[in-house]
Amino acid sequence: MKILVTGGAGFIGANFVYYELEHHHEDEIVCLDNLTYAGNLETLKEAFDNPKFRFVKGDIADREFVFDLFEKEKFDIVVNFAAESHVDRSIEDPEIFVKTNVMGTTTLLDAAKKYGVKRYHQVSTDEVYGDLPLDRTDLFFTEETPIHTSSPYSSAKAAADLFVLAYHRTYGLPVTISRCSNNYGPYHFPEKLIPLIISRALNDETIPVYGTGENVRDWLYVEDHCSAIDLIIRNGRVGEVYNIGGHNERTNLEVVKTILRALGKPETLITFVTDRKGHDLRYAIDPTKIETELGWKPKYTFDTGIPVTIDWYLNHREWWENIINGEYQNYYEKMYGNR
Ligand code: NAD
Ligand code: TYD
Repeated sequence: MKILVTGGAGFIGANFVYYELEHHHEDEIVCLDNLTYAGNLETLKEAFDNPKFRFVKGDIADREFVFDLFEKEKFDIVVNFAAESHVDRSIEDPEIFVKTNVMGTTTLLDAAKKYGVKRYHQVSTDEVYGDLPLDRTDLFFTEETPIHTSSPYSSAKAAADLFVLAYHRTYGLPVTISRCSNNYGPYHFPEKLIPLIISRALNDETIPVYGTGENVRDWLYVEDHCSAIDLIIRNGRVGEVYNIGGHNERTNLEVVKTILRALGKPETLITFVTDRKGHDLRYAIDPTKIETELGWKPKYTFDTGIPVTIDWYLNHREWWENIINGEYQNYYEKMYGNR
């Protein structure tokens, strides 16, 4: 089979490329990515050695380019990871989120429809469900939870999901959607919480915690997200949404303290800063559907995934130092300078 992976030079897309190359030697993988600030060819360095892998630079919202690519390549499966993915950036500048996350998705859907793709998979997020109250730990997001977004990021992701479902209902396009909780692991861009904590703590720099640090996220090791998507594209039912999560809820403060402890760094590095606008309180996934229907089980818990992730950052200093020593410095100053 020939699989198009969009956004494969980013965090989860790259991990998925490696997962597929390792587990499905017979399949061909084409990565389409326009290498925004979040895309990094260094991340795909080892994939380039594999003859089953190819990289194409391009924008998923560029209709002519995308249609030409689909016509030429005749993909069997499309997995769309490409997106603007950071909530804080969406608060500063929402428009690119509409262009990439919504119009990029509809462009891919049109191409998938025209060129008879056998499966279009949309990588979505649990953030489309909004948030849960902190004091109701009995509540979880199921696939039936209404869409109720908070940020420009989650709104654009939700809009894309609705288009994906509409293309199934209206045109019979064979689609699936996955909605995963927060990921962490190798190649995670250091603007996001966990790699930000690790990289800053290793440099003995302050760790900015928004508000009181009581917000809760449900953390999943990235390989477990990849194995779930792999099952869905091969065995999932067309037209269905699958939630992905492993019941690893932690407050942000717990996450920071766990990592500082593991690195032997003092809690005095923690600095409370002004809260994020519209900050979602709690995310928590009910993964019953994917577990019972597809037999998915995560390999890692938070307690086993965090040490593996820390080791990866310790052994790949050059990868993240190249990022934080570049344009990222301006970003950090802009977002945190006066916070
Ligand atoms: P990321 O920001 O690390 O990577 C995004 C990739 O998409 C980058 O390589 C970037 O260059 C590429 N890209 C952006 N705009 C593009 C365009 N117009 N055309 C082609 N390529 C483009 O993101 P990530 O964290 O790997 O997330 C991947 C997907 O998973 C996103 O759709 C995101 O919404 C979803 N998701 C992420 C998480 C998480 O915790 N990170 C959780 C659930 C779902
Ligand atoms: P993030 O990694 O941006 O993921 P998301 O907003 O998509 O859940 O943030 C995770 C949590 O950490 C979120 O509650 C915001 C918080 N956070 C901080 O407290 N400080 C930071 O510097 C960052 C980036 C996030």
